[in-house]
Amino acid sequence: VKKTGHVEFRNVSFAYPGAEAPVLSDISFTAEPGQTVAIIGSTGAGKTSLLALLPRLYDAASGEVLLDGVPVTKLDRSEITQRVAMVPQRPYLFSGSIEHNLRFGRPEATDEQLWDALTVAQAADFVREKKNGLGSRIAQGGTNVSGGQRQRLCIARALVTEPKVFLFDDSFSALDVATDARLRRALKAKTADATVIIVGQRVSTIADADQILVLDNGRIVDRGTHEELLETSSTYQEIVES
Ligand code: CTP
Ligand code: MG
Repeated sequence: VKKTGHVEFRNVSFAYPGAEAPVLSDISFTAEPGQTVAIIGSTGAGKTSLLALLPRLYDAASGEVLLDGVPVTKLDRSEITQRVAMVPQRPYLFSGSIEHNLRFGRPEATDEQLWDALTVAQAADFVREKKNGLGSRIAQGGTNVSGGQRQRLCIARALVTEPKVFLFDDSFSALDVATDARLRRALKAKTADATVIIVGQRVSTIADADQILVLDNGRIVDRGTHEELLETSSTYQEIVES
């Protein structure tokens, strides 16, 4: 199998350990290299839980999550982390330098690769403006950078690992609409062959996705492009109007 970052969920259901009610029920979709698949749905719908199954933060109760045609449960952790990078909903920075944070997944990255990732993530300017540049200290928990800066540094950290699959969990929410658009344009140009799965609340973040999955109460209730869903999905219309 070629390791290109092909993702498939096949009839996946999932419940948190100890809980009875399923959080995800019968989820099926594919995301191909070069595609962006967006997931939208109200709070608690199961968006974060769905993403968590690919890097195996949890395993599906039934059905299969496949990466390049192989169930993730049959892959080594390292094979998954080499191919999949997730930017979590609450992005975390370690206390230490910006450089230390960026190299976390790939210690051997060159400075040029770090700056390249920062440029795509729209974070190069603010790092350059800091007195110590890449050597600037991040406080414990990243409390000395803004929420939007933290998001962009975490996106840069994911870019440094050059994954085949990006998982963005609401990663653009703290960015203004213009920065969000610039970042995603740069990302698209830089990672044209990557598979991108993006959880987003804002319509502008997801409208250009190749496929949008509308998640409600752990189920995919509708799917299609933005234009298709505006015509066909009352759930999507409600989200768009809210
Ligand atoms: N849940 C749980 N245990 C966890 C995480 C989540 O029982 N460790 C439950 C939540 O209470 C919720 C459901 O799983 O009922 C789905 O949660 P989540 O996937 O986090 O929902 P999101 O769609 O990501 O919600 P949000 O938009 O608020 O991020
Ligand atoms: Mg979430």
